[in-house]
Amino acid sequence: MILLLGATGYVGRAFSAELRHRALPFMPLTRTAIDYTRFDVLFNFVRNTRPDFIINAAGYTGNPDVDACEVHRAETVQANTLLPQTVARVSYLTKTPWGHVSSGCIYSGAWVTRNGAERIERNLDQPEIRRLFETRPGQFRGFTEADEPNFSFRSPSSNFYSGTKALAEEALRWFDECYLWRPRLMFDEFDEPRNLLSKLQRHARILDGVHSLSHRADFVRSCLDLWERHGPFGTYNVVNPGAVTTRHIVERIKRLLKPAREFEFWEDTVEFLSAGTRAQRPHCILDPGRLLSLGIEMRPVEEALEHALANWRPPAANQEWLATSLKSPLSR
Ligand SMILES: NC(=O)c1ccc[n+]([C@@H]2O[C@H](COP(=O)([O-])OP(=O)(O)OC[C@H]3O[C@@H](n4cnc5c(N)ncnc54)[C@H](OP(=O)(O)O)[C@@H]3O)[C@@H](O)[C@H]2O)c1
Repeated sequence: MILLLGATGYVGRAFSAELRHRALPFMPLTRTAIDYTRFDVLFNFVRNTRPDFIINAAGYTGNPDVDACEVHRAETVQANTLLPQTVARVSYLTKTPWGHVSSGCIYSGAWVTRNGAERIERNLDQPEIRRLFETRPGQFRGFTEADEPNFSFRSPSSNFYSGTKALAEEALRWFDECYLWRPRLMFDEFDEPRNLLSKLQRHARILDGVHSLSHRADFVRSCLDLWERHGPFGTYNVVNPGAVTTRHIVERIKRLLKPAREFEFWEDTVEFLSAGTRAQRPHCILDPGRLLSLGIEMRPVEEALEHALANWRPPAANQEWLATSLKSPLSR
């Protein structure tokens, strides 16, 4: 049996759907039923139920967006840094392997080759960098798991959300039987508030940049594949190979969904932040090479984007899928 924390969330619901699809018995936990954020409660629960694996898909990403994490700091630390440590201790004491949904937002930038030299370019939202990416994408290389996070409390500038996610990774690094799965901006065909493609259609103005992305179902499939195939524990960038600019995604949205609106862009981060935004948004490219080298497949990002937009489901059409994904789990 697999124990799923944060089962009601955007990522948690996708894990539920995939676990059901694989006919893997699982138990979704929600704080209203059992307060899994408390060590004693979780420890006793795991000791009594003896799961084979724990998935931590719980966290605080801010509502309506990451700006809220700058205000609700205690909640952000509690959910993103303290809770993963609680799960790690429980899993250590009960000898239960587990996987934690971390994030690629602990990086800013990419490795970029210019004038024959490769170095980290931190700001992928600069107009000249975006132009370089559009003309010479081969000069950009993503961060690997060996690169130290550079958008954390230890770096010159970070937002609060990213800081708490990076701090959790630092603490979890020392636990042996743990996967750290790093997704980047998530999307799929279901129109809902946390979907990047939905957000872009609703934002009054958009900040352009270069990104890695994770298709939500591809992400959870790869995480479960890693565990089912006994992949080595450790950190994995779980993103669709390739990178895209926000402007490119918007062009695809215009072409495939034909929305009845114009899209406006911020000039750059300086203009974006001067309009009252609280949290700096990192743009980054991650290299999923470690995951792919184990034979675990992620579709190229262009293919996953095309598929999501070609199968776009407006909110009403999602209700049936949501109801299915939230049904009670299979029994053992
Ligand atoms: N969405 C993305 O694009 C994305 C990208 C990268 C990483 N992530 C990571 O994926 C994880 C899940 O994100 P999500 O998008 O699924 O978020 P979400 O939709 O807000 O769901 C998070 C779930 O976490 C649980 N939770 C536990 N403590 C919480 C707290 N203090 N405040 C709020 N919720 C709390 C809640 O479940 P219960 O109340 O049922 O227990 C909630 O449903 C997070 O760790 C996030 O950092 C998400």
